[in-house]
Amino acid sequence: MNDSKIGLAVVTGGGHGIGRALCRRLAKDGVMVVVADIDESAASIVASELGGVAKALDVSDEQAVASLVEDIEDAHGPIDMFVSNAGVGYGDGSSGAISAEGGMNPIDDRWDACWKVNVMAHVYAARALVPRMLERGGGHLVNIASAAGLLSQIGDAAYTATKHAAVAFAESLAIDYGDAGIVVSVVCPQAVATRMVGIEDDSDSTGGGFAGNDVDGIMRPEAVADIIVEDALAGRFLILTHPQVTTYVQRKASDHDRWISGMQRFRKKLL
Ligand SMILES: NC(=O)c1ccc[n+]([C@@H]2O[C@H](COP(=O)([O-])OP(=O)(O)OC[C@H]3O[C@@H](n4cnc5c(N)ncnc54)[C@H](O)[C@@H]3O)[C@@H](O)[C@H]2O)c1
Repeated sequence: MNDSKIGLAVVTGGGHGIGRALCRRLAKDGVMVVVADIDESAASIVASELGGVAKALDVSDEQAVASLVEDIEDAHGPIDMFVSNAGVGYGDGSSGAISAEGGMNPIDDRWDACWKVNVMAHVYAARALVPRMLERGGGHLVNIASAAGLLSQIGDAAYTATKHAAVAFAESLAIDYGDAGIVVSVVCPQAVATRMVGIEDDSDSTGGGFAGNDVDGIMRPEAVADIIVEDALAGRFLILTHPQVTTYVQRKASDHDRWISGMQRFRKKLL
């Protein structure tokens, strides 16, 4: 066991991007890591690099999440930290927030996929783990949302709405179980250099733009993972990896109408 008292952690979406960086950071701290991903081969590569355990997992399948928790705890003991990191976003398509065209087909599939992966997966993980953690007196639930869950992701209403829901769900978890020893953290990063923003794993593209978007302080996944692990272990609820997000959230809270006008102007710049 390391100083952090975290012996075993599960990271969903651990095969790529932020999840992979989290697995590496936790393993560096002496934590045994379970790399769970729908991309089984990516999970295996990361797990074998770290001496961890690879698990094929679709987080949108509640039974699969429950079985993973049971199997891991039976084989390796209590899960001290569960990081619900897997996430998806598809974009609105050409019709904007009403999602009437483009994207997935049929069109509501992208909303369904976002609800299941970005929100319900967090519910499924908590459902499987909270009773176990309450019984043993504690544990960490770390839910990766997004700055879009506090502000907005222009061009992706389904992503924005579901990340807001993920933040709200984490708040409910913290309110209900935080005083019973379960440490809940919700992470709201702005841009991170991963495949989600069109940057392949291991490519050094943080200096340049991507997909025509404003990069606004894009960070490398390793730097983001360091902040997440340190803040989660310190017991912080809201983890803001990008300092400018604090300012944006304050501006939004102080004058919502003005914030909408500013976002409309910003959207026009992006078109
Ligand atoms: N990259 C960013 O700019 C950014 C910003 C804010 C928040 N986030 C959030 O960070 C998290 C990680 O994203 P990333 O940027 O590393 O993206 P990524 O695409 O590099 O990695 C996502 C990982 O999740 C896995 N995954 C997708 N659907 C899954 C499912 N149903 N079951 C299990 N695994 C699944 C993928 O295989 C992949 O390994 C997401 O929740 C994302 O919304 C990313």
